[in-house]
Formats: sequence, structure tokens, C-alpha cells
Amino acid sequence: MQSDYFYAVYYDLLYSHRDVKSEVDFLEHVFHRLSEIPVRSVLDVGCGTGIHSIELAKRGYKVLGVDISEVMISKAKAKAAGLDNVSFVVADARCMEFAEKFDAAIAMYGVISYFTTDDDLLRFLKNLRSALRDGACFVFDTWSMLGVLEKRVYYETPSVHFRKSGSTLAVKEEQWSIDVLDQVSTAEISWSVLDLKRGYVDVMNYKLRLRLYTPRELKHLLSDTGFEVVAMFESFGFKNLSESSSELVVVAKAK
Ligand SMILES: C[S@@+](CC[C@H](N)C(=O)[O-])C[C@H]1O[C@@H](n2cnc3c(N)ncnc32)[C@H](O)[C@@H]1O
Repeated sequence: MQSDYFYAVYYDLLYSHRDVKSEVDFLEHVFHRLSEIPVRSVLDVGCGTGIHSIELAKRGYKVLGVDISEVMISKAKAKAAGLDNVSFVVADARCMEFAEKFDAAIAMYGVISYFTTDDDLLRFLKNLRSALRDGACFVFDTWSMLGVLEKRVYYETPSVHFRKSGSTLAVKEEQWSIDVLDQVSTAEISWSVLDLKRGYVDVMNYKLRLRLYTPRELKHLLSDTGFEVVAMFESFGFKNLSESSSELVVVAKAK
């Protein structure tokens, strides 16, 4: 897929505003404070270019990153060269199989929003449960239906965002439309990446369908697939979730 290739090539620039070190600090706090078992091995589902896998590996964890996109995985492998406690495989998280069981799993930056049907999400969660030890924690973030609905006008109004790294400038234009009854948003996104030195421009337009979840339905879906929700936060920090949070971070435990 063309957008897949573009995304993989520029992913780290497009998301350069993220503070990955503090997101991983948060994960480590969760592992220490909320996991029932010691965490040594981590499964990173929908790992993308491996930003969390690599940071966790640098901190001593044994990590396996899984992504459905071959180009994302080859980028992650190239970035992880020289680290022997992290590996990456191409797999569909809905039907992945592993010989070993993990002490924890993460699915960062809205990976579960890509599962727009209940069937897909349930297949993924059941599959993930079988890859985890009893008591393992699963940490993920997603879009919260309640907060997105509250800010619906904001999300449905076209907006422009900029990222700059060295002489490269990325411009993101986006507009969402929200199907409230189906709890799915369609984001129409256009990225323009400009190399200001060489005068080079690369453009990609694509549509992304993302599922919005309510906290209550997540509790049910997780409970039906062998997990129990331990905590819900409004971001990668320990601030409790509120009805106006557009994002939702869940810590669940494999029962
Ligand atoms: C927004 S990116 C997040 C990447 C990474 N976790 C991060 O925090 O930067 C979502 C990722 O989920 C992957 N993905 C989507 N559906 C998937 C599936 N069924 N199985 C595995 N990975 C999937 C995409 O290829 C993409 O790399």
C-alpha cells in the first residue's frame, strides 16, 4: 500500500512531537506498580517503527515488536541494529501465534482503534490473552467516544499541524467525520513533507477509519476475553480518566 510506505518512511518525523521517553517511563511505572508479575518480556503490538520496543530494550527488557506492515517492520529492524534483546516480526495481531508467553503487552498510539468491528477486536484480544502469562498487564491507549463527542466540532473542523526536524518540514491537514451510532471516525489526512534545502516535496493523502470506544464497553470486551481492567487514565500519566478526555489509556490484567 502506497500510504503504508509513506507512513513508514516519514513516521518518526510525523510523530517527532511525541515524548517517547516519558511514555516509556509511564509504562515502567505501570509494570512496577500495577503488574502482578515481574516484567522482563514485553510484546509490542502494532509496534510501527519500533519506537517503544527499542526504548524498552535499551532499558533491559526483552521485547518482541509485531506489526502488520512489512515496511514498518523493516524500518524498526534497521533502527534496532546492534540491540540483541529486541526483535520484530510481521504479523496480523488478530491471528498472531507465539511459542513463548510474555510478561506484559503494549499497543501504543491507538492501535486498537484500527479494529473497527467487535469481531476484529475480540479476535485480537483472545489471541493476545493466549500470548500472555496469568497476571500479565496489557497497556494500551485509544480514542474515547465521550471526550471526542464533547469536542466533535473541533475534530470535524479542518485543521493544519506542522512538524519540523532539521531542514524537513511536515504539514498535516486533517478533518474527521464522526459516525456517532457506529462509533467510528473517518479521518481524511493529507501530509506534505518538504525538504527545505533540496526543494523536494512528497505528498500523501489517505483516509483512516478509527474506532472510538466507551470505557464501559472496553471493560466488557476485555472481561469477555480474559482480562480485567485495573485502571484507566486520560493519557500516559496517572491522571484519572474523565468524561471530557478524548484519549483513554487502559491498564488491564490477564486473569
Ligand atoms: C498509529 S500506528 C502506532 C505505531 C506504534 N505503536 C507507535 O506508538 O508509534 C498503528 C500501527 O498499528 C499497525 N496495525 C494496524 N492493524 C494491525 C494489525 N491487524 N496487526 C498488527 N499491526 C497492525 C499499523 O501497521 C501501524 O504501524
